[in-house]
Amino acid sequence: MARILITGAAGSIGTAIAPLLRERGHALRLLDLQRPAAATPEDEVVLASAVDDGAMRQAAEGADLLLHLASFASERSWRDIVEVNVESARVALDAARDARVPVTVLASSVHAAGFVPSDEAGEGMPRARPDTYYGFSKVVAESLGDLYADRFGMRIVSARIMTFGPRPHDARSRSTWLSPGDMARLVQASFDAPVGNSVVWGVSRNGRRTVSLEPGRAIGYEPEDDAEDHVERLAADLGLASPDDIPPVGSAPLGGTFTDTPLGEPMG
Ligand SMILES: NC(=O)c1ccc[n+]([C@@H]2O[C@H](COP(=O)([O-])OP(=O)(O)OC[C@H]3O[C@@H](n4cnc5c(N)ncnc54)[C@H](O)[C@@H]3O)[C@@H](O)[C@H]2O)c1
Repeated sequence: MARILITGAAGSIGTAIAPLLRERGHALRLLDLQRPAAATPEDEVVLASAVDDGAMRQAAEGADLLLHLASFASERSWRDIVEVNVESARVALDAARDARVPVTVLASSVHAAGFVPSDEAGEGMPRARPDTYYGFSKVVAESLGDLYADRFGMRIVSARIMTFGPRPHDARSRSTWLSPGDMARLVQASFDAPVGNSVVWGVSRNGRRTVSLEPGRAIGYEPEDDAEDHVERLAADLGLASPDDIPPVGSAPLGGTFTDTPLGEPMG
């Protein structure tokens, strides 16, 4: 049993994976601005901001892994992105260092590399090419991961989460889907991550995947779910007669529509 501190625990990822981490026998400390609806009586709930150094340091005490999810999860103004996404990454890493939390998992995003063409992403881990201020904040978080790993010998996993959800919901997510079960597997694998900052794809094993599983395998992450198991329903949801009619991603940028959303304008 390990104790996991989850920031942003009331959001979609925290809500979906909390029960899966409990099933694995872990004790959860859930931090968010709002009370996580999925909290159970066994969980510790911390109502605080992830940019509050003192609250984060206290919340990190005794944790075996810090999963930092708290942030704006799509495009926002420059100021919002810097004050919440960038600042909270620094605060989370300081808290993990000061409280000697053995492993920190940073929720990075595909949007850190959103302008990489899908058909050029396959080998290794492409360099950062953010598609928005939001994507930029994830590049900063990854880079802070390098800084803190190199300076302080920390064990950090920067997970470039692609498209999280219960099932693929559009043509792009046929290749980019990350299932809740695989996100929980990624967190579990991170307990054994080496010293350093491991940048991995947060993606399921999807047959139409265009990114590499090798960076994740290097820390022991082996996804089990595949969007191909959901293509009949996906085609029906998209009003298509057959999965064969779902358009392939081809050379489209990994970031999809984020690459042409107006810079700095909230996406709603
Ligand atoms: N959902 C995806 O497909 C996806 C893809 C790539 C990356 N990510 C990243 O994963 C993380 C979680 O995503 P999500 O989909 O659950 O997002 P979400 O928007 O559903 O949840 C974010 C949570 O963070 C909390 N939060 C925001 N600012 C906070 C602060 N200052 N202090 C404490 N809590 C704060 C919110 O209250 C919310 O509960 C985010 O960092 C996001 O950028 C998500």
